[in-house]
Amino acid sequence: MNPEDILGAARRLKSAKLLVVLTGAGVSKESGVPTFRDALDGLWAKYDAQQLATPAAFRANPKLVWDWYVYRRQMIEAVKPNPGHFAISELERLLPQVVVVTQNIDGLHKQAGSSDIIELHGNIRRYRCSANCRGNPTLLEISAWENGLPACPHCGHWVRPDVVWFTEALPDEAIHRAQELSRQADVMLVVGTSGVVYPAAALPGMAKEHGAYVIDVNPVRDEISTIANLFLAGPSGEVLSQIVQALRAMA
Ligand code: APR
Repeated sequence: MNPEDILGAARRLKSAKLLVVLTGAGVSKESGVPTFRDALDGLWAKYDAQQLATPAAFRANPKLVWDWYVYRRQMIEAVKPNPGHFAISELERLLPQVVVVTQNIDGLHKQAGSSDIIELHGNIRRYRCSANCRGNPTLLEISAWENGLPACPHCGHWVRPDVVWFTEALPDEAIHRAQELSRQADVMLVVGTSGVVYPAAALPGMAKEHGAYVIDVNPVRDEISTIANLFLAGPSGEVLSQIVQALRAMA
């Protein structure tokens, strides 16, 4: 990685009044959470994640989709935030305002200490009634989630994870706040997202159009790097730790 690029990124961050950090599955990869487009392993190898994470799949086979989420929740509960998550939370101490907008459902940004987090695709540790019988969302406290698919205590419909599936709309408040902040941001740091799932994928373009400097951190070039002002090639744990180090040296 070019040290000049790290320094350039740190300088941009240093002058930002509002930094928006948009993250995707790549930021959790170094914690051991596979990205969505990685092949599934073990018992789930014969399934395609993009076909399990849909309302149609849940309607057709709720138990199968539930079991897949139990498996994913167990995997997520066993992992810890990595240096990338910690570097992002450290940015809050170095800059006036940092908001994390994440597509991840694993809760690792919060565990790493970030305080202002918009979860665009929900959170795997929360549950709701699949019929939203008492308003949208009808959140439910489920303690024994590994004991099989529970029913909503109010209406009897199946309980489902409070996550956004393919073809579903994002929670209104979350996407509206993310869009507003993207328009106001001085810098947008995009980390570990392939930039193919909308509307999250539109945020970097929106930020740039409204004057933000867009920095993309990813081991490979993709949709986002083509519009970014600066592309930093590498795993997020490494790249973000170097940026934080450079910022501290400027303090
Ligand atoms: N550091 C940074 N980025 C990484 C790393 C790493 N160590 N390893 C992989 N990546 C990058 C990949 O190159 C890819 O660009 O992370 C990205 C992961 O892409 P996706 O799996 O498509 O994840 P994401 O962009 O978050 O997907 C968006 O789509 O599948 C749905 O709802 C799901 O939230 C998800 C959304």
